[in-house]
Amino acid sequence: MANDYLLQLARNKMARNLVRQLGLPVPLPVTLRRGRGPWQRYPLADMRAVAGGTARSELAHAFAEAVVGSGAVVHAVGEGATIEALRAAARRSDRPLREGEVEGAAIDVLVFDASGITTVAELAGLYEFFHARIAALASSGRAIVVARTPDALDAVEAAAVATGLEGFVRSLAKELGKKGATAQLLRVRPGGDERLAPALRFFGSPRSAFVDGQVIELHGLAAGPLFDAPIHPLSGKVALVTGAARGIGAATARTLAREGAKVLCVDRPSDDGALARLADGIGGVAVELDITAADAAERLVAAAHAAGGGLDVIVHNAGITRDKTLARMKPEHWNQVMAVNLGAIIATTPVLLERAMRDGGRIVAMASIGGIAGNFGQTNYATTKAGVIGWARALAPKVAARGITVNAIAPGFIETAMTAAMPLTIREAGRRFNALSQGGDPVDIAEVVTFLASPGGLGISGSTIRVCGMNMIGA
Ligand code: NAI
Repeated sequence: MANDYLLQLARNKMARNLVRQLGLPVPLPVTLRRGRGPWQRYPLADMRAVAGGTARSELAHAFAEAVVGSGAVVHAVGEGATIEALRAAARRSDRPLREGEVEGAAIDVLVFDASGITTVAELAGLYEFFHARIAALASSGRAIVVARTPDALDAVEAAAVATGLEGFVRSLAKELGKKGATAQLLRVRPGGDERLAPALRFFGSPRSAFVDGQVIELHGLAAGPLFDAPIHPLSGKVALVTGAARGIGAATARTLAREGAKVLCVDRPSDDGALARLADGIGGVAVELDITAADAAERLVAAAHAAGGGLDVIVHNAGITRDKTLARMKPEHWNQVMAVNLGAIIATTPVLLERAMRDGGRIVAMASIGGIAGNFGQTNYATTKAGVIGWARALAPKVAARGITVNAIAPGFIETAMTAAMPLTIREAGRRFNALSQGGDPVDIAEVVTFLASPGGLGISGSTIRVCGMNMIGA
């Protein structure tokens, strides 16, 4: 990050004090731990996890299978239904379970089964578990709360306290950010229990580095049994990524290819050869195409059939900004942004669904936190990005019977050519105003796309996942 002026300034003591007085978050040079290389069978292997719960539990079995199956060195603390289930899961899998605290070392993952909490008084169990151990959480550590979704709960008090967990996790995320650690709430709908294990493996691992303060809904919406594939999850699959020549799209194409997919790399015709180089480097196919062209859908179908008979993954990533305040915005600024960011997605997807996409497929589209919070000078952009969120929500139930999932990702500030083009002060503020005090890397988005595209992503559909380091704006 050579052009990160605020970070350079913060290394100087006097300047750091000045930055603090201005009320800006002082950047701390915490390097986030990120995943390296392809997925491993046990992504949490060698990590120290402390697991706890309350006396009763709705999700004890699924929780225990997920925690023990992650491969972490699991320490069980306390007593009750969750701990009993952990002991049983460890016996079944022949993996050791340590009883009691981690001594003399930092904790990598704190994971708590809150599914048995139905009263205000029982929330004390949540407080006690994290209060006693949060200071021991490692740099880039993970705090994960697992619970039932509130609208599945009949009792008013139970629904209230289950919703309260959102506030707990979001606040904890803001406290943990200074050490690069994150907090998430994994919320399981009835029918989604077996989808917890792959989600825990991803959100407990360093691959979720820039996902923070999120409520992840796991459900049984999409049809079909969970075919879990911890390694090479995309082998034999064909994926299509738009806007693949650079930035988030290029990182996504590389990451999908790393996990075994053949990737159709789509971008506008250009002279710089970036698209062809990328496709060559990952054994993919370069498809030069403006996604707003009238024949775009036809050409994508043809490319998919030439590559392997059909599509398993579609990533609608191409996007543009044409920022102006509304009074100064020319019709072409409005129209271009509508056409690329939303119009092309809406026009091409039904054709791809009908003529190229195989059952069990995955669709992911890029939204933005700007679409959630709104941004000055971005009425056009934010309209399209909020539109993407609504599109994913509306389409998901319509394709669920085919086992297809549809989700949006809302990136926060990611270091790409798009954000490098921002005016200096806006750029500095943009990359700082999040709990992790830094911009994300394109690979952070790519890893989330890849998880959603994998068989284990089956439990998530119709959702928007923010990948924003818990940005201060955006909800
Ligand atoms: P970028 O500007 O670096 O790359 C976008 C790519 O899309 C370029 O290669 C461009 O040629 C391609 N593209 C644009 N119009 C096209 C068209 N009509 N047909 C085919 N390809 C086209 O952008 P970046 O930063 O990688 O962003 C990717 C996506 O993520 C976009 O949808 C963007 O809105 C979204 N996003 C990015 C954020 C960031 O901080 N970088 C934040 C929030 C959302």
